[in-house]
Amino acid sequence: MKLTLSVIKADIGGFVGHSDSHPEILASANESLNKAKSAGMLIDYYVTKCGDDLQLIMTHQMGEGNEKIHEMAWNTFVKGTEIAKKLKLYGAGQDLLSDAFSGNVKGMGPGVAEMEINERISEPVIIFMADKTSSGAWNLPLYKMFADPFNTIGLVIAPNMHKGFKFEVHDVKEHKKVYFTSPEEIYDLLVLIGAPSRYCIKSVSSRDTGEIAAVSSTQKLSLIAGRYVGKDDPVFIVRCQGSFPAVGEVLEPFTHPAIVEGWMRGSHNGPLMPVSVADSIPTRFDGPPRVTALGFQLAEGMLVGPRDMFADISFDDARKKANWAAEYLRRHGPFEPHRLPLEEMEYTTMPQVMDKLKERFTTLED
Ligand code: F6R
Ligand code: MG
Ligand code: MG
Repeated sequence: MKLTLSVIKADIGGFVGHSDSHPEILASANESLNKAKSAGMLIDYYVTKCGDDLQLIMTHQMGEGNEKIHEMAWNTFVKGTEIAKKLKLYGAGQDLLSDAFSGNVKGMGPGVAEMEINERISEPVIIFMADKTSSGAWNLPLYKMFADPFNTIGLVIAPNMHKGFKFEVHDVKEHKKVYFTSPEEIYDLLVLIGAPSRYCIKSVSSRDTGEIAAVSSTQKLSLIAGRYVGKDDPVFIVRCQGSFPAVGEVLEPFTHPAIVEGWMRGSHNGPLMPVSVADSIPTRFDGPPRVTALGFQLAEGMLVGPRDMFADISFDDARKKANWAAEYLRRHGPFEPHRLPLEEMEYTTMPQVMDKLKERFTTLED
């Protein structure tokens, strides 16, 4: 059957500060999506959180970018914002950048990852959700899953994966896209995706079948006040098994807590720590950045699950490494490479400081 899997997410208020989500917000979202399911708009749904981000996981048959689905998600966020305001949660409605819905939540603040698929005989999917980081954080794990034989042995020994995958890469600053095929073009691909603040993997598809394998919430960035305003706290969906990487190959990249942008005030580099949903509570220096993974089996659009994939002792070592790396980076305080380069920081006092100092700068003599 043709089915759309949509994940739409927003931070509409934190509890406490930016560290977690309030149960009343989750309950309200459950109620809204339950109504949409009863009305026949959704086949199924699952509401969850990653840190201070509310995550709406939905299945339906209305296709990608559908106005009705997006409007219903937007209204769910608006209703949640009212509760956030009542409870005086922190940053109530922070990701709702517009006063009114206008056709599609893209560009209005929330993050979106959607894929339309033909549901297979068995359809295992994993939804990855991150807090305190940006879309480029998915570049390294997606590369490992779909292009690195040291991670994914299926690329070498599974006949239905041996042709490799096609990557759609977005230049989020110039608003352009380009496609690469692996394995032939991996060196060119890596030139771009190794710079994740500008180039982000939007989707991956199978070269064998042409089918969509993974899609992320990568969106273009807005240049506001001379700075790029990031799309924070990204999600992505990945299909597993068969002609796609196995569940274990999809999870394997997260055993290495790679350094990503985000963390305190969106202005630091820090390790991406794989955690259970219960542990997605970034509290140390508002971090370190977290990633959760919920697995489902789709059954005629029903979301059978979830299984909390990182609630497994085999990720304990990654968490330990992440805590070690967090401590090591923290000792750099306000210095790079812990602090981001000037042009990437989400918070900056640079214009004011330079303005104050402009009379005091003199030209260096040769
Ligand atoms: C980072 C984040 C937090 C806040 C920080 C300051 O993505 O959400 O680290 O940036 O707590 O928050 P404000 O400026 O809202 O007081
Ligand atoms: Mg927040
Ligand atoms: Mg967040």
